[in-house]
Amino acid sequence: MQSHQKRALVTGGAGLIGSHIVDLLLREGWTVRILDNLEPQTHKNGKPSWVNPAAEFRQGNVQDYDTMHSALTDIDVVFHEAAYGGYMPEMAKYVLVNSFGTAQMLEIIRDHQLPIRKVVVASSQAVYSEGAALCPEHGHVVPLLRPAEQLRAGDFAVHCPVLVEGIVCGKPTASIPTPESTPGGGETVYALTKVDQERLVLLWGKQTGIPTVALRYSCTYGPRQSLFNPYTGVIAIFCTRLLNHQPPVLYEDGSQTRDLCFVEDIARANLLVATSDQLDGLPVNVGSGRATSVRDLARIISAQLGIALEPLARGEFRPGEIRSLISDISRIRTIGYEPQTTLEQGIARYVEWIRTQGSVEDYFAKAEAGLRAKGIVQSVQPSR
Ligand SMILES: NC(=O)c1ccc[n+]([C@@H]2O[C@H](COP(=O)([O-])OP(=O)(O)OC[C@H]3O[C@@H](n4cnc5c(N)ncnc54)[C@H](O)[C@@H]3O)[C@@H](O)[C@H]2O)c1
Ligand SMILES: [Zn+2]
Repeated sequence: MQSHQKRALVTGGAGLIGSHIVDLLLREGWTVRILDNLEPQTHKNGKPSWVNPAAEFRQGNVQDYDTMHSALTDIDVVFHEAAYGGYMPEMAKYVLVNSFGTAQMLEIIRDHQLPIRKVVVASSQAVYSEGAALCPEHGHVVPLLRPAEQLRAGDFAVHCPVLVEGIVCGKPTASIPTPESTPGGGETVYALTKVDQERLVLLWGKQTGIPTVALRYSCTYGPRQSLFNPYTGVIAIFCTRLLNHQPPVLYEDGSQTRDLCFVEDIARANLLVATSDQLDGLPVNVGSGRATSVRDLARIISAQLGIALEPLARGEFRPGEIRSLISDISRIRTIGYEPQTTLEQGIARYVEWIRTQGSVEDYFAKAEAGLRAKGIVQSVQPSR
């Protein structure tokens, strides 16, 4: 990309990932515009203090045609981060914000022949469901999400899906790093809309000739992660629980693992793909490439906060939860990406930040009954 083409639109630029992309771009000399509707669930107190004053801030909704058209004018690169996410009960809203919002944005750029040079869209490793796994008998396999009935019976393993003469193998598998070539599809409403977003962007790129990249983020955390949203962000939820002297709640047996990536590493990946043409037209994993169990995570956070409370595992599970998914980050490594912040360093940064946020309320406790009523959290019912 030519050096003068450095005007970015960051949708969702007030959020966790978007705001760190904004800061990085500004440091790199870009001109930055933010479009963010300040979703109340995420931004309970309105516009957050971290929105960089050196960026042009526009409050507006990606669903709104004229707002988007205007926001996309005089822009070279779009970083499309705005989305509805997490374990929310809604269905239609995901489709409207994520799928429809993205489709309409692409249509606006095409129909008005806006001179956009690149679109980078925030996808998710959620598109892989359980990702790649190893069966002791069948080797490399791609299991689907575990059925709710299986979890209800207290069986949390990921079983081999291979059919042998009409019978499912069913052996427990071990998780292995998931490369981009792994078949995905989306088995939750959120994941489905992430699949929509990345497919829409990548196929539109092929049709229009405009370079695109879909970044499949792993579990991202860091300063600015909403402290108000009880539905998403395991690190934020564990921290607010502990700071309110409530034990973190582990679903399943707490041995499920996450690929946790510090938000500044995710922001850097965005800059790298925006300024290189090597990965154009592709889905690209970005994460830490490491697995951490949720129980270990609770322990690390507890130690860093200096609040020793044993996590609670109450025999609950969330249908649709991924057991273990590690991103294979070889592809993005080819353009110089390397995660730079370890989990301990990243959590220390988060804890340091949370201490500047005044009193933090335990929104999770308030949301719990609703989560159960809507079946988002369910109980294991061992057979009698
Ligand atoms: N955080 C993660 O672990 C993770 C993992 C994979 C993918 N992602 C994706 O990364 C992107 C950014 O996520 P995040 O973690 O920064 O979330 P976030 O909630 O902190 O930020 C999203 C921002 O988008 C804004 N927004 C939501 N709906 C909007 C709308 N209709 N119009 C305009 N703005 C709107 C919100 O106000 C918020 O500021 C999302 O697309 C998300 O799906 C995040
Ligand atoms: Zn098998």
